[in-house]
Amino acid sequence: MPTLLDGKKIAGDIKSEISARVQQLKDKGLRAPNLAIIIVGDDGASHTYVNGKIAACKSVGFDFTLMHFASTISEAKLMKHVENLNEDEDIDGFIVQLPLPEHISVEKVTEAIRSEKDVDGFTNQNFGSIVSKNQLIMPATPWGVMELLRRYDVPTESRHCVIVGASRLVGAPLAMMMSEEGHATVTLCHKYTENLAYHTQNADILVSAVGKPDLITEDMVKEGAVVVDVGTTRVEDKSRKTGFRLSGDVNYDSVAPKCSFITPVPGGVGPMTIASLLMNTLKAYESQHSA
Ligand code: GUN
Repeated sequence: MPTLLDGKKIAGDIKSEISARVQQLKDKGLRAPNLAIIIVGDDGASHTYVNGKIAACKSVGFDFTLMHFASTISEAKLMKHVENLNEDEDIDGFIVQLPLPEHISVEKVTEAIRSEKDVDGFTNQNFGSIVSKNQLIMPATPWGVMELLRRYDVPTESRHCVIVGASRLVGAPLAMMMSEEGHATVTLCHKYTENLAYHTQNADILVSAVGKPDLITEDMVKEGAVVVDVGTTRVEDKSRKTGFRLSGDVNYDSVAPKCSFITPVPGGVGPMTIASLLMNTLKAYESQHSA
């Protein structure tokens, strides 16, 4: 059976390291890092993710500021809030939870965030710094994937890493990190890729970040592969109190027996994204204070 890449455990280790650093700051009489979160509208999944981020802030001793706006807020008003947070010296970093309502441009809002406070690592400056010697704030989810592999000593150098899903949030920056830091040979698959299985069958490390349950089946995975599942989709499950469960992109039960390492969903990449967000907030704090 494969080794489980236990994101929940590793995220817990990272949170302990951050807590210790926060305690040092407090011992020196300094304030704790303060993360602001903007959420627009009432999407249930987004609120669940944001609640997880708030709980994580509390668990490491960070302060947090939650700003919830109705889905009817204008783009101009939202931009004004972003500008205010950019200028607010009590806020070290902030995120705008996605998705946003259709009438608001994600690109415009994201690019308006000061890169020093962009703790999702979404701005062009932070994104571009992945391939720079002077790395700034790293995109949170792909950094979480890289860190999870590092902490399990999973080698990436000279390995063939196949990533399914070329999104701006995960697949595209992960491809750059895998090549630049991981020294892997990278194949980036997307919705125009023909014969997906041909590519995935050649993967030493297979990462799926699409959001389509059961996209990756046993026949698509090489024996001994490392499989990282970034997908988290809510699927109806009447046996649960909530009425749903989270499903990854990978058909876990059939794929796991073939793998050397595999992430569970939930408890794999999800907690690592939150741990990365906390790391980035601490980094943003430290770059803006001489702590
Ligand atoms: N929506 C889904 N994932 C993310 C994330 O990592 N950051 C933000 N801001 N929104 C998201």
